[in-house]
Amino acid sequence: MKWRTKFTEITKVQYPVIMGAFAGLGRASFAAPFSNAGGLGIITALNFNSAERFKKELKAMKDLTDKPFGVNFTIAPPMLAKKNPKARTEETYFDFLDIAVEMGVEVFTTSAYQAKKLGERIHEYGCYWFHKCSVMEHALSAERAGADMITLVGVEGTGFKNPLQQSTLVNITMGNKLLDIPLIAAGGIGNARGFLASLFMGASAVCFGTAIMATKECPASDKLKKRLVNQDIFEEEYYQQIYHHQLKDKSIWSPAAGHCDEVLTIKEFMDKIIGEAEDLLIEWGFKKEQFNTL
Ligand SMILES: Cc1cc2nc3c(=O)[nH]c(=O)nc-3n(C[C@H](O)[C@H](O)[C@H](O)COP(=O)(O)O)c2cc1C
Repeated sequence: MKWRTKFTEITKVQYPVIMGAFAGLGRASFAAPFSNAGGLGIITALNFNSAERFKKELKAMKDLTDKPFGVNFTIAPPMLAKKNPKARTEETYFDFLDIAVEMGVEVFTTSAYQAKKLGERIHEYGCYWFHKCSVMEHALSAERAGADMITLVGVEGTGFKNPLQQSTLVNITMGNKLLDIPLIAAGGIGNARGFLASLFMGASAVCFGTAIMATKECPASDKLKKRLVNQDIFEEEYYQQIYHHQLKDKSIWSPAAGHCDEVLTIKEFMDKIIGEAEDLLIEWGFKKEQFNTL
């Protein structure tokens, strides 16, 4: 089946699927297999402390895949930047952007804090700017600032939490009503039903974070992957951490872990999501050769 959404049209990837940004993990060895499997792999620029090191990683990525991929710029909020002089602000990414554009990258994602200046620079290069945020107010503001697509992360998701964060269902159905630009669903999605449901709710693509940590190519330790696969997502302490912000500066995987039963390769993971989604569509009487939301 051919998959066509605004996301696949813009990014030229096979499936409406994008890799999350990953501090510590979002490197070429993880992102390239994601692109090779038909999604948009993402190199997380935060992981490289010099322009030379970043350029080397992009070269490694180009050796490992000839498919499209993107770069994420995770921006430290001012509070964090004040405390830590090494924290990455918008300006510290400008030289990284120049390098990535020179090397043919066309899609950039920004996250964690507003990124208007970086977004403008991305557009001056004729590239695409996708912004990721956790509340509708920030999504609307990024749309006004010119973002081409918004990833909205639900309260079920991992990453930067906001006390006013809504569920993935509310984010995507309401975002579809309130925003004019396409949306990417993120937060707690880990199987074919979650993937399809997101598209039906109005998303143009799905972002996977936690679910792809349980893959062979993810550079996390085997011990961590084992804990993830065995996570009881209905346990009280875990519930409090995810939904009541009792993280105490710890980060934890999302309830998408409930769908991770074994460690797969990224290709196996992608084929499972897409294969099962196609089976479901057929089971429901969908007879077309193309799933098209354009
Ligand atoms: C280990 C890990 C590290 C992450 N690091 C970042 C990061 O540096 N920047 C960012 O914007 N998001 C980061 N995220 C969030 C993901 O990009 C994505 O938005 C989130 O995982 C989606 O929710 P899910 O985990 O339920 O799929 C991270 C997620 C995980 C699991």
